[in-house]
Amino acid sequence: MKGAIFDLDGVITDTAKFHFAAWSQLASEKLGLKLPASFETELKGISRIESLERILDFGGLRDKYTAEQVEELAAEKNGYYLKAIDTLTKDDILPGITRLIGELKEHDVKLSVASASKNAPVILKKLGLFDKFDAIADPSKVEHGKPAPDIFLAGARAVSLDPKDCVGVEDAVAGVAAIKAANMTAVAVGDPEELGKADAVVPTTDDFSYALFEETWEKSRN
Ligand code: G6P
Ligand code: MG
Repeated sequence: MKGAIFDLDGVITDTAKFHFAAWSQLASEKLGLKLPASFETELKGISRIESLERILDFGGLRDKYTAEQVEELAAEKNGYYLKAIDTLTKDDILPGITRLIGELKEHDVKLSVASASKNAPVILKKLGLFDKFDAIADPSKVEHGKPAPDIFLAGARAVSLDPKDCVGVEDAVAGVAAIKAANMTAVAVGDPEELGKADAVVPTTDDFSYALFEETWEKSRN
């Protein structure tokens, strides 16, 4: 294993609750909708615009808004979201992640971020992790979102590595599918039933380690 390509939300820090709160606020204040709790999981790894399209579909509102209005609504949601994440500090780094980053660096593993979030650089700065990563792939520059492999391929390319030498790290079904489509080894955190396509699934981020990543990579390549 020469590289570890990380998703951000749900892997490095837990922002799903902030995304869901911001979408819920937009839905109730601007769309007259109450979002079911299941949307919190369903929208993990899904881009801002696609998330909004799914919400509009849920409310049967897709045809009510022009593309420009959809952009405006998405920008409004991002405003609520940015306000919520303003309070993030290094205390919001998920358990074990700082240790894991140290272990990977000790073994000269390149680190890159492959998040669908355009806010990834801001969030990493707030967490004090920005300088630990060798690259952050830009989701606005890739054609297809997860489950397509594009962002993980961009993450490997950004550190000049062959995807087969990389482990991708995810918490979402769409993300695991993206990692596998990129021909990388997938390590996931969460429910093994939901994330069964990954090469290894652990219950918490504190279960991540260099040893787990290396062993999973070795096994998946043979
Ligand atoms: C992550 C989250 C998604 C979010 C997406 C875009 O993948 O899991 O819920 O919609 O990023 O985030 P952004 O910060 O660009 O709106
Ligand atoms: Mg995620």
